[in-house]
Amino acid sequence: MQSVAPAPSSDASDQASRASVHSFGGVIGAEVRGVDARHASSADFEAVRAALDRFGVVVLRDQQLQPQDQIRFAQGLGPLQPLFYNRFTVPDHPALTIVSNIRENGEAIGIEDAGMLWHTDASFNRCPDMYSLLYSIQVPHKDGQPIGDTAFTSAIHAFQDLPADLRKRLVNFTSTHSFMHHLEKKRAKGQLKRPPLTPEQQAQVPDVQHPVVRRHPNTGRPSLFVSEGHTSKIDGLPPEESSALLEQLWEHLRQPRFQYRHKWRTGDLLIWDNPAVQHLAIFDYGTEPRRMHRVGTAGQAPVAWMEGTK
Ligand SMILES: [Fe+2]
Repeated sequence: MQSVAPAPSSDASDQASRASVHSFGGVIGAEVRGVDARHASSADFEAVRAALDRFGVVVLRDQQLQPQDQIRFAQGLGPLQPLFYNRFTVPDHPALTIVSNIRENGEAIGIEDAGMLWHTDASFNRCPDMYSLLYSIQVPHKDGQPIGDTAFTSAIHAFQDLPADLRKRLVNFTSTHSFMHHLEKKRAKGQLKRPPLTPEQQAQVPDVQHPVVRRHPNTGRPSLFVSEGHTSKIDGLPPEESSALLEQLWEHLRQPRFQYRHKWRTGDLLIWDNPAVQHLAIFDYGTEPRRMHRVGTAGQAPVAWMEGTK
């Protein structure tokens, strides 16, 4: 594991951060050590933010968080953004969502079908989420090894790696992100485990257009912003051409060299930067109990990246 010095604190009145950042060796993914999320200082938040800018996804291990601790930590990274269409919030904490396959008295206690297609969180909104924070309470195992991994891929490195002529072409496009398309795709794959949206709910999530290449709000770097889960088409292209281009880009994004695959431990607080990475839940654990709590922070409307801008 490669060690990386944290960013220095700019807040002289705050205590110095003990955070150290340790890359997992790929293009994304790192562990931040030395931060207890219950008592994070502003210098700790600065170190975590800097690690996210550089590595896209970071884990804080061995945390012991109550719901209010996770919410407070998320608020240190930005204002909260509750999930749309969420029937499974933690009691008294509406911003915190239960993600679980556990059933009690035949009833689901959490979202059972989250994240089974590559996506960035809430990209069907005009302002998709910035950071997502997933805290593991119960991790399934098989033969002593954790299962139910979460995979990430770098949309920044994937874009950089495309041929120059394709990069140039893509910056002129927008694409449509659609929650209804997402539900239909899941239904077609037999993954959907939720009732249909009411007409009132459908009206709350109209399709939106976003740039295909977005500028990262912190780093200014370009990232490829079309996902298997939420992008229904490239705007302005004939349907066959749009589908073929999307399939090509999704295949490109799925390459292992852009990926980090998180193997969960109980007490992990995993944080990812939605403008920089896409993610996928690996559903390989059947009815082995798994429970996580999720909270997200608000993001800005994606801005198109232009060659020569930072
Ligand atoms: Fe997600």
